[in-house]
Amino acid sequence: MSAPLRVGVVGVGWAGQQHIKAYAALDGVELLGIAGLEEAERTALAAEHGIEHDVARWEDLLALDGLEAVSVAVPTFLHAPIAIAALERGLHVLSEKPIALNGTEAATMVDAARAAGRVLDVAFNHRRRGDIQRLKAAIDEGRLGQTYYAKAWWLRRTGIPTIGSWFTQSNLAGGGPLVDIGVHVLDYALFLLGNPAVRSVSASTYDLLGRNGFGSSPEDNTKSGGGNADAKFDVEDLATVFMRLEGGGTLLVEASWAAHRADGDQFGVTLYGTEGGAELIVDDYAPVGSLKLFGDDAGTATAQRLRAGVGGAHPAVVAEFVDTVRSGDWAGRDGSAAAQLARIVDACYESAAAEREINIS
Ligand SMILES: NC(=O)c1ccc[n+]([C@@H]2O[C@H](COP(=O)([O-])OP(=O)(O)OC[C@H]3O[C@@H](n4cnc5c(N)ncnc54)[C@H](O)[C@@H]3O)[C@@H](O)[C@H]2O)c1
Repeated sequence: MSAPLRVGVVGVGWAGQQHIKAYAALDGVELLGIAGLEEAERTALAAEHGIEHDVARWEDLLALDGLEAVSVAVPTFLHAPIAIAALERGLHVLSEKPIALNGTEAATMVDAARAAGRVLDVAFNHRRRGDIQRLKAAIDEGRLGQTYYAKAWWLRRTGIPTIGSWFTQSNLAGGGPLVDIGVHVLDYALFLLGNPAVRSVSASTYDLLGRNGFGSSPEDNTKSGGGNADAKFDVEDLATVFMRLEGGGTLLVEASWAAHRADGDQFGVTLYGTEGGAELIVDDYAPVGSLKLFGDDAGTATAQRLRAGVGGAHPAVVAEFVDTVRSGDWAGRDGSAAAQLARIVDACYESAAAEREINIS
């Protein structure tokens, strides 16, 4: 039996807790320490999972003797500094999405991973869902033929993660729903389409509801700084993007935290191909969404419901990161795919500001 892999987690909010639980459930992993500003959460998590060190400052976590890998689950503006410091100490890093505030910062993280010869993974848990994986398998079996158009969305009526929290401040978050939930949508949509390069984007962003105080999540008042009347909101509450893809296909992405639409939270995707179409709709974080394939049988429309399992989420992301680190086969695990998504998101914001299509080289 080899020695356990000694890991740490920075951040004890929702995301950090997913990483902590996932590591704690894995054999051959020792959760050496956690860091976060909330002392009560930290000590409770440390007691629950038998974690030796719980510290406030991320710098103190990275300095722990014997630490080999770290998850970074903190506000987005801290991803790059913490990940780069960790990589420079020779640690492997699993960062939360989005990889960084923007593509330029993301590139510095990729450079640091390559220079250190260490793994830099980014948590894109939604593509691990069973319904998305089932749809991908159907596409790979050729059931849709050549896919040429997709529309993918994540829309909330009142789901701003607390007006005034770090999420609604562009210098801390990098943007609003496009960079927060839209980046998941972009990740799973491009995955389903076979990862074509995005050639150009034409985007619009709006902030008309959030900046007037409408749309803060009723269930979510836990984010720091939220809830006060003068709260800062300088990000979008809705983004729409039309993307031209390598090979001639196109993709429409919509992401909202606030919009006068049906109540609740919904994400999904529709795809059109030469042999068939598909639709996946996930309402209110259902573990398995409604997945249908459409086609034509000698002139008659066909619709088939596909069954899917729950699939993986953070536990799958964390387990794969641990397996990769242990395998010693780190080629290509340098965060560059997530950095490319960050460049695409940058181009979307540039397009929205300039009110024109932006080419991506
Ligand atoms: N993959 C997903 O599905 C998913 C879901 C939610 C959030 N996220 C991402 O996870 C990250 C964190 O989001 P969250 O919702 O958990 O945020 P949060 O505000 O609930 O928690 C942030 C945590 O970071 C800690 N922190 C802040 N500054 C720190 C510092 N200087 N040193 C140590 N700890 C510090 C806070 O104490 C807190 O524990 C974000 O990048 C977000 O985009 C991903």
